[in-house]
Amino acid sequence: MQIFLDTTDLDAIREWLPHGLIDGVTTNPTLLARSGNTNRRECAADLAALVAPRDVSVQVQHSDPAAMADDARQLAEIASNIVVKIPVISESGRPNLDTIATLTEEKIPVNATACLSLAQVVSVAKAGARYASLLWGRAADEGADAGTLVSEAVGLLEHYNFPTKVLVGSVRSAGDLTGALRARADVVTVPPSVLSRWLDHHYSRATVAQFQIDAKNVQ
Ligand code: E4P
Repeated sequence: MQIFLDTTDLDAIREWLPHGLIDGVTTNPTLLARSGNTNRRECAADLAALVAPRDVSVQVQHSDPAAMADDARQLAEIASNIVVKIPVISESGRPNLDTIATLTEEKIPVNATACLSLAQVVSVAKAGARYASLLWGRAADEGADAGTLVSEAVGLLEHYNFPTKVLVGSVRSAGDLTGALRARADVVTVPPSVLSRWLDHHYSRATVAQFQIDAKNVQ
């Protein structure tokens, strides 16, 4: 089981790395836009250097297959631990399996993103993606039982011996993270704020506070 941070925030990553929980980082265009960092390649280079040898997923920006593949090749040249994120289908519904397969043949690792169904997970696995990003929160937005979806996806890929890992994204609460782990996700990518909330517990804090008070009476 691996936990990735879903963020472009270098300081948050620096805070978490020494704790040994973090196995990689994912980003997407929305996170980059929100951070105000408009230089995607510079951000990718900084993230890759900070978390190496763990991997960092960075998304392509084009819908045209040739432009998407070129963008992916340029991203992959930035650092050996960059994984290129390719949406499973384009906004018009065109499958991007050909681009995923081409990049995989070129030994460029692919994180196939925006997967919301078993069909999409199995298809990107057949195309050779390293990760199938299955979006927990967005699947739930559409009425799916995200836990069942993830556990069936993991079971299918195991049954058919695909090396592709199910990476659960769109984790919006501590409960989503626990749910994804219960569903046996291979990887869960989580915003730093959700990870903090997941690990924290008010009663652990109170317990430690009581121990600290009592420790004053002990040598
Ligand atoms: C994963 O890398 C996804 O891009 C991300 O987790 C999506 O999260 P959201 O659905 O909360 O925007």
